[in-house]
Amino acid sequence: MNRIIVTGGAGFIGSNFVHHLVAHTDAHVTVLDKLTYASTEASLAGLPEERVQLVVGDITDASLVDRLVAGADAVVHYAAESHNDNSLEDPAPFVQTNLVGTFTLLEAVRKHDVRFHHVSTDEVYGDLDLDDPKRFTEDTPYQPSSPYSASKAGSDHLVRAWVRSFGVRATISNCSNNYGPWQHVEKFIPRQITEVLDGRRPRVYGDGLNVRDWIHTEDHSSAVLAILERGRTGETYLIGADGEKSNLEVVRAILRTFGRPEDDIEWVTDRAGHDRRYAIESGKLRSELGWEPRFQDFDEGLAETIDWYRAHEDWWRPLKAETEAKYAAKGH
Ligand code: NAD
Ligand code: TYD
Repeated sequence: MNRIIVTGGAGFIGSNFVHHLVAHTDAHVTVLDKLTYASTEASLAGLPEERVQLVVGDITDASLVDRLVAGADAVVHYAAESHNDNSLEDPAPFVQTNLVGTFTLLEAVRKHDVRFHHVSTDEVYGDLDLDDPKRFTEDTPYQPSSPYSASKAGSDHLVRAWVRSFGVRATISNCSNNYGPWQHVEKFIPRQITEVLDGRRPRVYGDGLNVRDWIHTEDHSSAVLAILERGRTGETYLIGADGEKSNLEVVRAILRTFGRPEDDIEWVTDRAGHDRRYAIESGKLRSELGWEPRFQDFDEGLAETIDWYRAHEDWWRPLKAETEAKYAAKGH
């Protein structure tokens, strides 16, 4: 697998994966990215030009996708509209990119018999109660709550149908919430870090007891590479690092790092249909492919991420005012 297309490779998780590929393989990478508001070419800066090429384009553009896929050994598919709050405001781009885009890629890999890895989310499984001892497994029934998670669930089903009906060589991964460098300031952790850096209070939805299962994006990348290289065709692998935390715990950890009182919080309007808890059981990935996360200590990974946002204000500053204006209009 020497020629790899990474869709969405200028976004948060996709760009981290491109860096990981360059560091850990000899692959030549073509990033196919539309460069939406969520992406940044800066995240690809410093990569060797002879190994990484950026093609600015849309995954729903069938002729472009066909031409690129014809010359590839594998496609790793990250491109998506990815933010729940945006999907509640305007679901149309979520259906277009996440469903039609995935369909377009599947048709191309089917035609050219190219290996496909589909990157998805644990949100396709809906949510768990706070006191439920269960975690999501590969056998948990799909029950998505939001337009975002429903569009991702639909894209997973398309991939499985293309495997079964047409013999496409695909794998799927469903990962829990990521944190790390280059995450857009609309998302929970970077929003709160940059609010505190701006001398404001972190903004917590509802009662703050909602739980997310945090994983460092570098660990997500190593898991996807393991699946790409050694995963079994047609299989789904859940990716998680045992990082369950309530939103309140995360915000308190951020406040502590800045030496601010732990109750210095702005409580804001809850998200409609807000999923209560996500939790991943990643035993299949660990036992079958020998994968282990490197970031076992959330506080350490969080501290590193805070340092990154402190050092990269030039990157996030231009995104901040517009993001906060959008949130203010919704009472968030
Ligand atoms: P992101 O929003 O930061 O990046 C998405 C990228 O896709 C951007 O670079 C954007 O320009 C590109 N894109 C969007 N529409 C496109 C189109 N039509 N054609 C080409 N490119 C397009 O998202 P992210 O957080 O990096 O998520 C990447 C993937 O990982 C998504 O599929 C998401 O569902 C999945 N995922 C995310 C998380 C998380 O915590 N963020 C967790 C599990 C899975
Ligand atoms: P988010 O980063 O949007 O990820 P997801 O919706 O995919 O889990 O949100 C993570 C959690 O943080 C979720 O429970 C919503 C909550 N949240 C806040 O409390 N305040 C905020 O400002 C944001 C953006 C999210």
